[in-house]
Amino acid sequence: MQEKLHNILSHPIKKDLSQLLLFLSFIFTSIVFYNVLSQSQSNPFFNTGFFSQFINKNSSSKVCDYSYGKWVLDETQPHTRYSENCPFLDPGFRCQKNGRKDLDYQKWRWQPQACNLPRFDAKDFLQRSRHGRIVFAGDSIGRNHWESLICMLTQGVSNISTVYEENGSPITKHKGFLSIKFQEYNLTVQYYRVPYLVTIDRPPENAPKEVRGVIRVDKLHWFSTKWVGADVLIFSAGHWWNQDKTVKSGHYFQEGETVNMTMEVMEAFRRSLNTLKLWMIQTLEHEKTHVIFRSYSPVHFRYGEWNKGGYCNTSRKPETDHSKLEFEPLNNILIHETVEQMKIAKRKVQFLNITYLTEFRRDGHPSSHREPGTPVNAPQDCSHWCLPGVPDTWNEILYAELLTMGFRRYL
Ligand SMILES: *[C@@H]1O[C@H](CO)[C@@H](O)[C@H](O)[C@H]1NC(C)=O
Ligand SMILES: *[C@@H]1O[C@H](CO)[C@@H](O)[C@H](O)[C@H]1NC(C)=O
Ligand SMILES: *[C@@H]1O[C@H](CO)[C@@H](O)[C@H](O)[C@H]1NC(C)=O
Ligand SMILES: *[C@@H]1O[C@H](CO)[C@@H](O)[C@H](O)[C@H]1NC(C)=O
Ligand SMILES: *[C@@H]1O[C@H](CO)[C@@H](O)[C@H](O)[C@H]1NC(C)=O
Ligand SMILES: *[C@@H]1O[C@H](CO)[C@@H](O)[C@H](O)[C@H]1NC(C)=O
Repeated sequence: MQEKLHNILSHPIKKDLSQLLLFLSFIFTSIVFYNVLSQSQSNPFFNTGFFSQFINKNSSSKVCDYSYGKWVLDETQPHTRYSENCPFLDPGFRCQKNGRKDLDYQKWRWQPQACNLPRFDAKDFLQRSRHGRIVFAGDSIGRNHWESLICMLTQGVSNISTVYEENGSPITKHKGFLSIKFQEYNLTVQYYRVPYLVTIDRPPENAPKEVRGVIRVDKLHWFSTKWVGADVLIFSAGHWWNQDKTVKSGHYFQEGETVNMTMEVMEAFRRSLNTLKLWMIQTLEHEKTHVIFRSYSPVHFRYGEWNKGGYCNTSRKPETDHSKLEFEPLNNILIHETVEQMKIAKRKVQFLNITYLTEFRRDGHPSSHREPGTPVNAPQDCSHWCLPGVPDTWNEILYAELLTMGFRRYL
């Protein structure tokens, strides 16, 4: 199953000219968007935007920008974290068990530039979430993120046997959804597999022959009915929104009853985000549900793409050469716009911007230390993350952002 997962995960963002032009035009729209926003709002949240790195982080912002900073080696890290024995980890994420010998990847701590991250306090997080429900919806990177949070939270329970999958499903089940109950706190933490967030369907009758499947940009996945009532709703999307996974493999975009043979992938993503946004504004109890949209998690296939012999097994420490970092992906700009529009609609929502910090962590992937039974000549995994590892930092930031949002579920 891990090899299927692997296919999902696409290629590094190509730095070709057309993309650069597209990127520049997006910067321009962002500037316009920003100016409009800053005139209509004086909300401190707007400081976390795309251009925030050019602004002195200390000056006006009351809210800390956790997205910008550096990785520091901290020998104490592994002792404060859960271990690979956490029963809620996919075999494919247990890198040490799968033969990885260099373990420094577990020792790096993210240090934001202008402030400190609050210490992740599992008991406090659980306490705040008592009688509640936390939902992750998205692709397998979201699943990676979800497993990390579950293992971090188990550190706050007194008896780990009281944490279990509600339907008895094994953690290795990769279809549909999984629901982990923290009995001591009457909390469930769920994962729904919805790589596109919207509906994937068979082609309509009248569709051209080359259409093998459709992605319906105006129809949210039916799992969304199960997200209503969640206290925290965490989305992750992006890795499936590329040419290879869609148009090039015969999966075209459908709007209404017709398949649109010319719609661009990023335009389709934008429309799908809009579908999601409208649903959230209409459906969610906005006093209750805290929506978090995670940004793109970079992949690190070097010397070739994932299916062309690309690898990442030679990286033992984070990247230090800034010129090797990729551009901000378009996905992020679209997600960020969606989040800002929801803020204007007065929804509790936050953009979890982990792209920059994650970009450095070429050392954090399973690479050739994939799950037992993976053929030796299988592509390396330079998309997912070893656990404990990088997604733990995403959860430290998630926790910090929830504190900033005043998250507490009263009952
Ligand atoms: C995400 O954070 C990085 C680092 O601070 C920043 O450069 C980038 O502009 C941010 N992206 C968005 C869409 O806000
Ligand atoms: C922000 O303020 C703190 C405390 O006043 C100071 O130590 C730090 O150097 C400042 N950082 C920046 C980026 O100005
Ligand atoms: C557990 O939480 C659910 C959802 O909030 C609530 O309906 C139920 O009464 C709680 N159960 C207990 C035993 O408190
Ligand atoms: C831990 O929880 C399990 C499942 O509820 C229970 O059977 C076991 O007795 C508990 N152990 C302790 C030490 O309380
Ligand atoms: C297909 O989508 C594009 C936007 O990407 C739009 O401009 C065009 O009108 C659509 N075509 C049809 C036939 O609806
Ligand atoms: C890394 O992977 C490449 C490609 O599979 C292989 O040739 C090389 O020996 C590996 N290097 C290490 C240090 O494991």
